[in-house]
Amino acid sequence: MASRLVQEGGRRHDPKYIKSLYERQKRVNESIIDFVGQSIIPVGARVLDACAGPGGLASAGAIDKWWVVSNDLARQFALEVKEKFKGSVVVSSATDLPYANGSFDAVFYVYAINNILRVGRVISETERILGDGGVMVVSDPGPSVWMSEVLLYWAAGGYEKSIEYFQNKDYSYEDYAAFVAKEFLGVPDDELKAKIHQINARATTTQDKKSVPFRVRELLEELYLNNLFSKARENGFVLEKAGVGVTALGQKTSPSDEQVWLSLANIHPINADLEEYKSIIGRIMDLRKNPGLIPGVSEDMVRSPQRIVYPVLVFRKQIGEHSSAN
Ligand SMILES: C[S@@+](CC[C@H](N)C(=O)[O-])C[C@H]1O[C@@H](n2cnc3c(N)ncnc32)[C@H](O)[C@@H]1O
Repeated sequence: MASRLVQEGGRRHDPKYIKSLYERQKRVNESIIDFVGQSIIPVGARVLDACAGPGGLASAGAIDKWWVVSNDLARQFALEVKEKFKGSVVVSSATDLPYANGSFDAVFYVYAINNILRVGRVISETERILGDGGVMVVSDPGPSVWMSEVLLYWAAGGYEKSIEYFQNKDYSYEDYAAFVAKEFLGVPDDELKAKIHQINARATTTQDKKSVPFRVRELLEELYLNNLFSKARENGFVLEKAGVGVTALGQKTSPSDEQVWLSLANIHPINADLEEYKSIIGRIMDLRKNPGLIPGVSEDMVRSPQRIVYPVLVFRKQIGEHSSAN
């Protein structure tokens, strides 16, 4: 959540802005539920929304078909969910879940693992609480530009502004960068530093230099997806379905000209060999760079600076092939 807070600055206290974020997340969750579909998670299934925030799956009507537990680390969000929706609410960390082995049929992480960062730990906990054949759904927009700026500063200098955040923390930006490299991206620090350094060194014109944090972000995204797939595989998951959704802040066409969240009605499926993780990652990266290639994405969405492209990955825990030892 750190990056969000910094990026959104004072706006996070504006009730109108908060309401619009809730609206966006409701739509994102609706599109994900729709994409996963009943053939993968049948009616009556035991579903954990591991980082539900102020609404999550519950805000998108999941409780009408599944038995849903809305879990979150933040107590104030849990209280909000309890007040607004039906279903059970629990306060706990996704890195240490208080549920018995095999107690869920599906676990969702919507806009979540990119905040928690501990990819391996989250996936091994998920594997433990899922029954055989259980489903893990992961969907988030990946690393933020803010994270990219911090790592760029760490590897090559520049972008001091982003590290102001660490002034009041009991850990330094170097600690943060090392943690991100190990837990989120699954690569050694020196290797990551060298890669970022190279991107920075290649930028010569002013225009190139401006785009460096975005190039770094692309690198981080690719490493994150690689880490996610390899941790999923190590924990006995196979990819069953993949797609890409888009949401963007755009102009309403009706009289008021207000800014509203526009979303792709249906998540665009990725038609590639699901066992070929590299090609799935390649496809996600292509669509992230050029969302205009996705049917149903309007010009307004493509041009919006608030555009969010979110892959949706549906994994299934293989039956009997893996023990919860790790
Ligand atoms: C961007 S919000 C997304 C919420 C929700 N899934 C949605 O779609 O609107 C991320 C949520 O993750 C929660 N979170 C962060 N770290 C967590 C952890 N270790 N365990 C459980 N929840 C966590 C935050 O409190 C926040 O509510």
